Amino acid sequence: MTVTPLGIPRRLLEFTLDGEPVRAPEGSTILDACRAAGKDVPTLCEGDTLTPKNACRVCVVEVEGSRTLVPACSRRAEPGMEVRTGTERARHSRKVVLELLASSVDLSTTPRVAGWLKEYEAKPDRFGPDAARVDEEPRVDNDLYVRDYGKCILCYKCVDACGDQWQNTFAISVAGRGFDARIAVEHDAPLTDSACVYCGNCIEVCPTGALSFKSEFDMRAAGTWDESRQSETTTVCAYCGVGCNLTLHVQDNEIVKVTSPHDNPVTHGNLCIKGRFGYQHVQNRD
Ligand code: SF4
Ligand code: SF4
Ligand code: FES
Repeated sequence: MTVTPLGIPRRLLEFTLDGEPVRAPEGSTILDACRAAGKDVPTLCEGDTLTPKNACRVCVVEVEGSRTLVPACSRRAEPGMEVRTGTERARHSRKVVLELLASSVDLSTTPRVAGWLKEYEAKPDRFGPDAARVDEEPRVDNDLYVRDYGKCILCYKCVDACGDQWQNTFAISVAGRGFDARIAVEHDAPLTDSACVYCGNCIEVCPTGALSFKSEFDMRAAGTWDESRQSETTTVCAYCGVGCNLTLHVQDNEIVKVTSPHDNPVTHGNLCIKGRFGYQHVQNRD
């Protein structure tokens, strides 16, 4: 018999979103309500499986009575609130945030950012080429994943996923302070000398491609990575009895990477090394 968890019933809150009355389940964020209403509020550091970190501030909206703009990804909706998502002040703030981020890091593999830069008329070039925050080659020190900190927006999602929010391995953390802050393993060592267990749960949450599958990195370098030619199939991992869901990304009949559905109530997008990276035997046709 299939049992469908219904969850705890939640009261509906009523408030105003861009002048329209809306209702959202108690505990929803403003962002949840915006998405339910079909409004596109840009987000970068928000992660649907992690506690909001409020790192990027690209999601800000205006709330009546609030002196400052508020981050939609973390502010809970309250009854009677009056929220406006597209005011000049909110749009200007998003534009500046996008300019600062896109001038200091490489957002070329961040989904949707090119569209937002255009929509908000952001001009990252105005800070000049010296604005780059980290100017170093990608770190390719193992066969499973690559760290390219020139794309890192310091959202700390990988740190949270590796640490107390999911994996509890604590292999990666923030090193340095202020302008020198960066994601690193202990003593800035190669990943192979760290506590990393190669679950890849950090890649799963990284919004910019700063952490990426070696398979994807190599294919991008060779110019063969083409998401428009990829299909996704969700199946069940057969390695052990946990039964995690795997989403196989297939291009030209080859598995090119493995992710996991975030809405799975048991695993929430997390896997272990076998489920995430152990697929080579499937395509060994010799
Ligand atoms: S590596 Fe990715 S997940 Fe980690 S802080 Fe940088 S952008 Fe965020
Ligand atoms: S991903 Fe790892 S824990 Fe999950 S079913 Fe596969 S082997 Fe087991
Ligand atoms: S997405 Fe809300 S602060 Fe980054």
